[in-house]
Amino acid sequence: MKLPVAELHVHLEGTLEPEMIMALAKKNSIELPYASIEELRAQYQFTNLQSFLDLFYANMAVLRTAQDFREITVAYLQRAHDSGVRHVELFFDPQAHIGGALDLREVIAGIRAGLADGLERWELSSKLIACFWRHAPASEAMELMKVLVEQKHDIDGIGLDSSEVGFPPELFTEVFDYARAHGLHVVAHAGEEGPAEYIWQALDLLKVQRVDHGIRSLDDPQLVQRLVDEQMPLTVCPLSNIRLRAVDTMAEHPLPQMLAKGLKVSVHSDDPAYFGGYMDANFDALMEQFSFSSEQLATLAKNSFESSFLDEQSKQALV
Ligand code: HPA
Ligand code: ZN
Repeated sequence: MKLPVAELHVHLEGTLEPEMIMALAKKNSIELPYASIEELRAQYQFTNLQSFLDLFYANMAVLRTAQDFREITVAYLQRAHDSGVRHVELFFDPQAHIGGALDLREVIAGIRAGLADGLERWELSSKLIACFWRHAPASEAMELMKVLVEQKHDIDGIGLDSSEVGFPPELFTEVFDYARAHGLHVVAHAGEEGPAEYIWQALDLLKVQRVDHGIRSLDDPQLVQRLVDEQMPLTVCPLSNIRLRAVDTMAEHPLPQMLAKGLKVSVHSDDPAYFGGYMDANFDALMEQFSFSSEQLATLAKNSFESSFLDEQSKQALV
């Protein structure tokens, strides 16, 4: 199902389709432990977030040049456009790409060039959000944060992703203070596998403007009340939740409940090449299970634009 929406929770590296991984590995002379696309696809069985992340980080090593980043960005934007997306706020993981021959400036320049192509070809507007790995030390994130700001790297905001349980948001308070002080937007993954307490920390300590996932908020009625009162955006990723077993089946997915409680939820694809599809596939799966009314769909679409970092005028033009 194709609904005009804003995509606010998608990881660029999670749009790397198996065919692209194999082609990039060949072009960049990187040996992969899979002989064929089928063998690679056979790995896409996940038991939790970590089992996915292990494969995800290994595969993204095929990205080696600015042109690689430009091409995968354009390929994703084409697919997003085809599935109804009108505006994208794209995540990437800088820590995965630096340390080798490529420097951060080239990575960002490649992605930005791809985003500019998307604007020109499909009038698809975009923002770029650098996510820090919560499994890595906060001191590393802080060093990188300073480089991003001091060298005036071209990003719109920062986020926090990777392994959640055992890595509470509070570890990154200083990094987020620094980012906010420098005018960057701030978001964080919280309450995907981790407890509601991590969502409280994302709000109170990181002072985020959106919570990525946030499904575990339902465990804590006081937190739900706070999120409703503040109309805090939650970027929910249904197919991701099922494939990573954060939720057992679509029938048990909390999205209808979240909507009914008045939470500001919207639907997103997270890592579409790994989890069974892009924005359209997420809506197809939801509609098959829940047959949302046109009013519910309109709320989800409106929430996506309102939760974006577009200025008011641009939001109004898209809503
Ligand atoms: N959670 C945490 N980190 C991630 C995810 C996710 O769903 N996708 C890509 N990095
Ligand atoms: Zn994510």
